[in-house]
Amino acid sequence: MNGAPGKPTGSHNLQTDDQGRLRHFLSTEGLSRETLLGILDTAEGFAAVGERAVKNVPLLRGKTIINLFFEPSTRTRTTFELAAKRLSADVLNVTVATSSTKKGESLLDTLHTLEAMYCDMFVVRHADSGAAHFIASNVAPHISVINGGDGRHAHPTQAMLDMFTIRHHKGSIEGLCTAIVGDVEHSRVARSQIHALKALGASEIRVVGPRTLIPIGIEDLGVKVFHDLREGIRDTDVIMMLRLQRERMRGGLLPSMQEYFHFYGLTEKKLAVAQPDAIVLHPGPLNRGVEIDSEVADGSRSVILQQVSFGIAIRMAVMSITLGSHPKAQRQHADADADAD
Ligand code: CP
Repeated sequence: MNGAPGKPTGSHNLQTDDQGRLRHFLSTEGLSRETLLGILDTAEGFAAVGERAVKNVPLLRGKTIINLFFEPSTRTRTTFELAAKRLSADVLNVTVATSSTKKGESLLDTLHTLEAMYCDMFVVRHADSGAAHFIASNVAPHISVINGGDGRHAHPTQAMLDMFTIRHHKGSIEGLCTAIVGDVEHSRVARSQIHALKALGASEIRVVGPRTLIPIGIEDLGVKVFHDLREGIRDTDVIMMLRLQRERMRGGLLPSMQEYFHFYGLTEKKLAVAQPDAIVLHPGPLNRGVEIDSEVADGSRSVILQQVSFGIAIRMAVMSITLGSHPKAQRQHADADADAD
């Protein structure tokens, strides 16, 4: 049995059903503005639930969700788990480091073994680009797959929680001047952000970084490339910093971390060229003193911890939408049942 994921193709066809409903959430690429707004709007309701004394709602009662993380994670895994629990689902966390994958079991065999436990959803993080698509192509029809980050390809729930955070502060994504700064080459977050920002109407999307960390041809995605940080963030409304993904770098792409911080590390002084009300995002984990100065990370324009909180609401929205149990779908089901009576 071949357990090897390949290059992701046709993600939007695999993601949606014949009626355009989201079945899997693998990538922001190819999804309509309406679909992305639907996720943001659904998450608004769940963000309010998070502020209540009792934070649980019964939308996914009886459903079983398996977190299958082949790469380390703090934020994504825990907020998916919390989101599932707040939706009253049963959650299993498979720790791959202590699973039979270590004894040579293929991805497909692992998958089919877990499927035999009657699960309804896999949340997957994997080092290989295309892993989530591969799994979505091979699961039983009733199972939804959510991509929790695959290689350098996509991290769609991260991008959507970023969009939610931006919309919370700016009212809309439309018309905003945005910059994505740092290691774009190895960043699944950057790719998912670019597709989401485009679909949601950002007026300008800039990518900023050294030549070795900006993919050749990225202009084809409709972004402007800058190699000077101050020029790249000048007059921007939103600055999205990226972590240096040293675990994915092959060879010496950077002279030193000190030099990188000198040219591309975001400091209060450099931030002064952005709009006075510009906000600063970072998906985490942070490399303080490498891509961002602590004064900025902990400063008044940083929304980094809010991103984490909003991640729970976004993940509740994505899970409930893909499993067809979000409030609108339930109302539609109830209407259909009433019509049938
Ligand atoms: N942003 C993000 O994906 O963080 P984790 O690796 O901690 O999940």
